[in-house]
Amino acid sequence: MLFPEYRPRRMRQSEAFRRMIRETVLTVDDLILPLFAIDGKGVQNPISSMPGHFQFSIDNLIKTAKEAENLGIPAIMLFGVPSKKDALATSAYAKDGIVQKAVKALKDKLSNMVIITDVCLCQYMDHGHCGFVQGNSIDNDASLDLLARTALSHAKAGADMVAPSDMMDGRVAEIREILDENNFSNTPIMSYSAKYCSAYYGPFRQAAHSAPQFGDRRTYQMDPANALEAIREATMDIEEGADIIMIKPALSYLDIIYRIREEIDLPVAAYNVSGEYAMVKAADKMGWIDGKKVMMETLTSIKRAGADMILTYFAMEAAELLKNHQK
Ligand code: PBG
Ligand code: ZN
Repeated sequence: MLFPEYRPRRMRQSEAFRRMIRETVLTVDDLILPLFAIDGKGVQNPISSMPGHFQFSIDNLIKTAKEAENLGIPAIMLFGVPSKKDALATSAYAKDGIVQKAVKALKDKLSNMVIITDVCLCQYMDHGHCGFVQGNSIDNDASLDLLARTALSHAKAGADMVAPSDMMDGRVAEIREILDENNFSNTPIMSYSAKYCSAYYGPFRQAAHSAPQFGDRRTYQMDPANALEAIREATMDIEEGADIIMIKPALSYLDIIYRIREEIDLPVAAYNVSGEYAMVKAADKMGWIDGKKVMMETLTSIKRAGADMILTYFAMEAAELLKNHQK
């Protein structure tokens, strides 16, 4: 296929031609909306670094989840912002914890939507780390029991799927075991398998009050320089019983999404994280880029790299655009 016999531009000459040869088509089915739940009534605290996102009390959370459902978004990822923190993260697995209460209420009101819960300890620990802290280090194996209890409490509250984001070794197996022992063998695990130690989580930590109070997360989250290690992490999680493999963040890690898609036959999710969202919103506000176009290009690139589903703060905006496009 050489010029002038072949001319790639022939198939680009009209939108109809372009549609016919388009390889990647983003749909609302690809989107998962992350939401933050907080105690109270009528609360809707704006998250300043994530325009359009809020900490919602349960009443408002239901309203927003309903809007998402009406737009056709199939799932939400729920994060809790608890009012109490301690050294054992007790409100992470309390029966009346914020996530547990929110899930119950959501399941009552939303019939078809998949409610995914983020399983971690950082928002609930007074030190802000994702595991149990002993002295100055994170005790991996002591963290597993707390994480498993948290996942089980979410399932008991009605969560359709649990998503461990802590990056402790062995947590998927521990969670699978406790779920199976308690008659939740039908509850899938979406594992944050390749979660990198990333500065792109900044706005989220402000939203969820989950920044570590000492040190950083480098002893558990992955080194951004590593790719083969992501395959090892994903492979381990599959053997431990994961149903979906997640890569996070998405944009600086499109190669990881691609590699995992090539090597692994489970559904792949990618998390378009808070910092990725904030950068687009900020540049759009400055008038430096067209935010909506950059949003669609970004989401399409994540799907093109190989993601079957995309967790994104753009979910509502993208769903609306996709809906209008179809008319
Ligand atoms: C906590 C958690 C984080 C995110 C999801 N779960 C932050 C972190 O690891 O510090 C990041 C989400 C985002 O930035 O959008 N385990
Ligand atoms: Zn955490």
